Amino acid sequence: MKIAVFVSGSGSNLQNIIDAIDDGRLKNTEIAMVIADRDCYAIERSLDRDIPTYLLDERKTFSEDADYNLNGENIDLIVLAGFLTVLSAEFTQKWKNKIINIHPALLPKYGGKGMYGEHVHKAVLAAGEKVSGATVHFVTAGVDEGEIIIQKEFKIEKGDQVDDLQRKVGEVEKEIMINAILKLEGRS
Ligand code: GAR
Repeated sequence: MKIAVFVSGSGSNLQNIIDAIDDGRLKNTEIAMVIADRDCYAIERSLDRDIPTYLLDERKTFSEDADYNLNGENIDLIVLAGFLTVLSAEFTQKWKNKIINIHPALLPKYGGKGMYGEHVHKAVLAAGEKVSGATVHFVTAGVDEGEIIIQKEFKIEKGDQVDDLQRKVGEVEKEIMINAILKLEGRS
């Protein structure tokens, strides 16, 4: 399965996929390209591995630019790994059932525009939730609204802060991202 990984941040989820390919957990997956919407550490991780890497800076036409780069590469799956641009309805329709996203909460709670990174964890703590988690889901035009593929939760302990939730989410994301890709490898 040829995948394109879209990134905006530190790229720990990208690294997780690279590591899973290296250690044989993902036997039938190849990262054909990495696409970033901004300058970020994920680009370094990608270039370190000689993965074809594209930086798109024209935010208005982002979806068109991404589509242009994907063309002709026979990409089976696009993985949004901490990717913060909202893709156009046209793009999500064209790649229907071929885009997945990882979200740092138990959707459908704490999703939608503006719900990313620490904003999510702050909202979860402010609501006094006893559990949080992460979700991998298909991407549709509605932000964070597509069908859920895998979810995993963890307990929020008394006194947990944003940093603690970030760390716990990171652990859970590592596991469910690989399991989601494995599940979809079977389709290709
Ligand atoms: C991840 O926790 C991911 O769930 C979150 O950004 C982080 C990216 O980390 N994504 C969102 O909040 C999207 N709504 P990374 O760049 O180190 O992989």
